[in-house]
Amino acid sequence: MVHAVYPGSFDPLHNGHLDIIRRASKIYDRLTVAVLQNPLKDAYLFDVDERVAIVEDVVRHIKGVEVDSFAGLLADYMQRVKATVIVKGLRAISDFEVELQMAHLNRQLNPSAETTFIMTATRWSYVSSTRVKEIAKYGADVSKLVPAATHRKLRERFGHPVSG
Ligand code: PNS
Repeated sequence: MVHAVYPGSFDPLHNGHLDIIRRASKIYDRLTVAVLQNPLKDAYLFDVDERVAIVEDVVRHIKGVEVDSFAGLLADYMQRVKATVIVKGLRAISDFEVELQMAHLNRQLNPSAETTFIMTATRWSYVSSTRVKEIAKYGADVSKLVPAATHRKLRERFGHPVSG
């Protein structure tokens, strides 16, 4: 039984993340979406409980997927939950450079965890949480970029209709 972990900030979850979750869940027996707790206060738009709640809402019908949060090193978390595969999504070369470095370091820290990459679907390759938040902040439509649960939460947070 292969237990994989898809770690990230998910601030907030967007359709690119969801696509990776769906595809990874077909490859691995068990997939934990692991939401990073705030290393710095105010670093994120949503606190860890809100980010976890969004992911839980969105993945509840996807078989074999669970949601958790973690603080500290991913390598330690992998050991704690006895998971052997790290799943990362890759959009572009810029992602690759960062991810390559993290994959080498994580492997050094925890040799029993193997990093695997899934290429982001072409249609979501330009979507990032940072851009989603920026667009939503100004009230423009992000409904095609994020799941409904994220959309609702953005509307609540910005206190104005994020159209769609
Ligand atoms: O969604 P993000 O912000 O790109 O995710 C980055 C994340 C959470 C995967 C990465 O920052 C991480 O693993 N943080 C935990 C701390 C850690 O292990 N740092 C060393 C990585 S080599």
